[in-house]
Amino acid sequence: MIKGILKYAHHLLSESITGGDTVIDATCGNGNDTVFLSKTVGTNGHVYGFDIQEQAIIHTRDRLAREQLTNATIIHDSHSNFIHHIPVDRLTRLGGAIFNLGYLPGSDKTVITNSETTILAMEGILSHLKQNGLIVLVIYHGHKGGDQEKEHLLHYVSLLDQTYYHVLYYGFINQKNEPPFILAIQKRH
Ligand SMILES: C[S@@+](CC[C@H](N)C(=O)[O-])C[C@H]1O[C@@H](n2cnc3c(N)ncnc32)[C@H](O)[C@@H]1O
Repeated sequence: MIKGILKYAHHLLSESITGGDTVIDATCGNGNDTVFLSKTVGTNGHVYGFDIQEQAIIHTRDRLAREQLTNATIIHDSHSNFIHHIPVDRLTRLGGAIFNLGYLPGSDKTVITNSETTILAMEGILSHLKQNGLIVLVIYHGHKGGDQEKEHLLHYVSLLDQTYYHVLYYGFINQKNEPPFILAIQKRH
């Protein structure tokens, strides 16, 4: 069966992340990806989750507590500042990251991710990622401002040197209403 977008995003990460890795949820939102990452890296690994909205931080911490998951640190800051929040020994084990872009469902639709901070964070993460580490971007672009972010990101990833990075595009090209799609970047060396 062809996997849906969120299922495939998790599938890609579960294939590349190993137990004990450090991973980043760049946009915690309601915490779905954080919980998934927390279970995937296991008790020796650690998740660093970021969001700029307090509501998202509260939801994500609640989700983790309900599932009794203790290997995650949830940070109320932009993902572009990730470097200031992750200890060096954890950073050397950085195995993956997910960016679920757009706005927080059920919340203020004007608080959206934007290409400037997304690309800043991606550049930093790519430079610290382990060999074969993976960044997965789930790109929602139907909202106001979403199209611009999509175009900037497509341009940015298309220029990444193929010697060092594999870049994957995964999406359903016959779906109506601007469906989300995935960009995944794997560090080869
Ligand atoms: C589509 S939602 C994420 C959904 C989430 N992954 C989940 O599983 O529920 C996008 C989130 O990105 C957050 N966001 C926007 N700009 C951000 C930034 N610069 N740094 C971190 N989070 C940001 C928004 O507040 C929003 O909660």
